[in-house]
Amino acid sequence: GGCAPHASALPTAELHLHIEGTLEPELAFAMARRNGVALPYASEDELRAAYSFTDLQSFLNLYYALMDVLRTEEDFAELAHAYLARARAQGVRHAEIFFDPQAHVARGVPIGTVIHGLARALDQAPETYGITTRLIMCFLRDESAESALATFEAARPWLGRITAVGLDSAEVGNPPSKFREVFERARAAGLKCVAHAGEEGPPGYVWEALDILGVDRIDHGVRCLEDEALVARLVADQVPLTVCPLSNVRLRVYEDLADHPLPAMLAAGLRVCVNSDDPAYFGGYVGDNYTAVRDALGLDAAALRTLARNSFLAAFLDEETRAGYL
Ligand code: HPA
Ligand code: ZN
Repeated sequence: GGCAPHASALPTAELHLHIEGTLEPELAFAMARRNGVALPYASEDELRAAYSFTDLQSFLNLYYALMDVLRTEEDFAELAHAYLARARAQGVRHAEIFFDPQAHVARGVPIGTVIHGLARALDQAPETYGITTRLIMCFLRDESAESALATFEAARPWLGRITAVGLDSAEVGNPPSKFREVFERARAAGLKCVAHAGEEGPPGYVWEALDILGVDRIDHGVRCLEDEALVARLVADQVPLTVCPLSNVRLRVYEDLADHPLPAMLAAGLRVCVNSDDPAYFGGYVGDNYTAVRDALGLDAAALRTLARNSFLAAFLDEETRAGYL
């Protein structure tokens, strides 16, 4: 309802956020101009008109094309600053941020440039925005297992800045089991593990993420509802699911937000939280997602508080810091 206050008043942790997916059209054009990169769109409005997706792949095509404007350390720092400012305005107090090193290295941007640029902004985040942060390095699952291993080795000098590894990009046909070895290596190095699973892929991919990769959280995971035994497992272990409602509608996982299973997931006792995924592309930052599910699904204040509490329970925080947020 139009009269209800914006749900962004609620303090939250954002745990499913691709930094490259926060690239707004204005910033993309500014970077294209200063870096001399030609974009295949005449204007910001023409670019925005392309944000009409039929599935995950149709989004990924634009996502990878537009990130070509990101070239320098300064670009990555500016991208992260822009996200942090918007996130704070929407209630975010803690952000665990994905980045896709392979998508940059493939274009000739060294992994150190990416990490130094992001780290420069994140170092200032507590003081400037009142946000604590973590970095999660994702492997592109439509690239080879060897490429993921090489990326992990290239990142070794910076593992002290990286909290976890993740798995993203085109899901169907690229099961978690493909990345068993690199996740083993990450765990041996003391990193946490997460993986996108059960967004477009089947419940079997969620089982693999749990049992083969040993993940601490599942990103999306909405298709777990098709498998009763899987739901029972996720509930028993209180495995966090980082659900992204506006993303799911834009990528046609669900026809309409009113069809989203978030209330059923809460009712089942799953540890779900709400996140924005790629907010520049999907029509909203994290507070917008909370407001949208409140309005479309009729979630009451207690349900919204549960979602926010779950986000802090699922975060990679030491217990003292976590207690301060709860
Ligand atoms: N799913 C998979 N890969 C991604 C996404 C997503 O929603 N966003 C950026 N990379
Ligand atoms: Zn995602």
